[in-house]
Amino acid sequence: MSTVPILEIENLHVSIEDKEILKGLNLTVNAGEIHALMGPNGSGKSTLAYVIAGHPSYEVTEGSIRYFGEDIFEWSPDERARKGIFLAFQYPTVIPGVSMANFLRMAVTNVRNARAEAAATDGGSAQPFTPREFRKLMREKMAQLKIDESFANRYLNEGFSGGEKKRAEILQMALLEPTLAIMDETDSGLDIDALRVVAEGVNSLMRPDMGVVLITHYQRMLNFIKPHFVHIMMDGRIVQQGGPELALELEEKGYEGLRAALAAGAQS
Ligand SMILES: Nc1ncnc2c1ncn2[C@@H]1O[C@H](COP(=O)(O)OP(=O)(O)OP(=O)(O)O)[C@@H](O)[C@H]1O
Ligand SMILES: [Mg+2]
Repeated sequence: MSTVPILEIENLHVSIEDKEILKGLNLTVNAGEIHALMGPNGSGKSTLAYVIAGHPSYEVTEGSIRYFGEDIFEWSPDERARKGIFLAFQYPTVIPGVSMANFLRMAVTNVRNARAEAAATDGGSAQPFTPREFRKLMREKMAQLKIDESFANRYLNEGFSGGEKKRAEILQMALLEPTLAIMDETDSGLDIDALRVVAEGVNSLMRPDMGVVLITHYQRMLNFIKPHFVHIMMDGRIVQQGGPELALELEEKGYEGLRAALAAGAQS
């Protein structure tokens, strides 16, 4: 297995409309690792997710993001997705008139075809999907994730409840089989059963050659998805890192307590 990290972010500075949001962020994700990213509102977590996805509004002023050692800034959002980078957003977009099934088929076919092409040039034999194979795969994944079949005919995110949107994202992830999954607040607005479904989904989709960054506000989510590392972000930087116990400490002390402890540590 390759020892090059899946994701390597170094000294990342990002601005939006001349306001600096990310101020020197470092993060490395290796294969097989789940990283939880926590931090108060406005600390820059979603900004980081958008920058990795390639959102054009954010200006990278300094630093680098490498995916398997390659600089991603030259790649379009579409290329990033084809190369296996997947983002589940905090606020999924409504696409009127596009059914979930059609959207997924387009997205997945696009990605799979690109991978099949890449594999073919490497001498591999990956084949694109036929519509029939796609339906079969989709049914399997929906069963695996305990998602109702009627879901496939609903319009993408239109009239979906918060919990349904999150399940739809997990389904999308299941079909795309990403190498790097960044999930922004996949737990927000989920009732306890839906939370478990999403968490079990992520757990069952995790592979040894895959890395996950889970952006979350709640320790609760981390009872279901066990992270290897927890990072606390404040004001555009990661200010503390640790194992799952750090999330428990945060739950107990809150960000204020953590800030005070960090300030005291900085003075001593
Ligand atoms: N398009 C934008 N225009 C202006 N400011 C923005 C824009 N997007 C983000 N910001 C600002 O950047 C900061 C970081 O926002 P971001 O959404 O990344 O925070 P977050 O850590 O995800 O917060 P939350 O926990 O509330 O989701 C905030 O102060 C926000 O107002
Ligand atoms: Mg956010």
